[in-house]
Amino acid sequence: MNNTKACIFDAYGTLFDVNAACRELSLDVGDKWQDLANLWRLRQVEYTWLRNSMNEYVDFWEITGNALDYAMEVLNLKNKKLRDELLELYLKLEAYPEVKEVLEKLRDKKYKTGILSNGSMQMLDSAVKNANIENLLDAVISVEECKIYKPSSEVYDLVEKKTNIQKDKVAFFSSNAWDMHAAANYGFKTIWVNRFEGILEKLPGKPSAIVKSLNNIDEIL
Ligand code: LAC
Repeated sequence: MNNTKACIFDAYGTLFDVNAACRELSLDVGDKWQDLANLWRLRQVEYTWLRNSMNEYVDFWEITGNALDYAMEVLNLKNKKLRDELLELYLKLEAYPEVKEVLEKLRDKKYKTGILSNGSMQMLDSAVKNANIENLLDAVISVEECKIYKPSSEVYDLVEKKTNIQKDKVAFFSSNAWDMHAAANYGFKTIWVNRFEGILEKLPGKPSAIVKSLNNIDEIL
């Protein structure tokens, strides 16, 4: 029996295209734009894990800037103007094409919808507004509330705290395999949005389903 009451989404890579900033400026970045996007993203998530371990929280905007600085230096792309433009674009990352329609379908079927993300509230508000989906979300939850990053269980606890919906009634969607494993291990019904044709990590927690995009997810709940 489907007892799902809420569909909660990771933000970056799941709803919003993390490659979009580098792709939009690919003429300025040059042929290394995909390498830059990959290294930027990799360091961004690694810095969240490392700062969790060090007990040294700073918000995701600062981490995103630090990771970009590192990636640009490695790729010999030191250019302050380009750096500032790339960061600015990170506030307006494109949503994946199916996002709006799928949120509408979920709302029609009376599911609560929300975001649970490492992003700062300012970053999430900006991306949500830019994608024109603010009226399709019941909750936008940032780790700013607990000042620790995923995959700490304190982050996943925020869903029940903010929505009053218990974890076994939550379907959680993430394209990030590590986030999916952690969320499944925590007790959410978890769907891996395997946009990048990855393989399962050797970590605890198994997805209830694996999809390639968010298209038609309302049919698998
Ligand atoms: C987030 C990152 C993990 O939105 O994608 O939380």
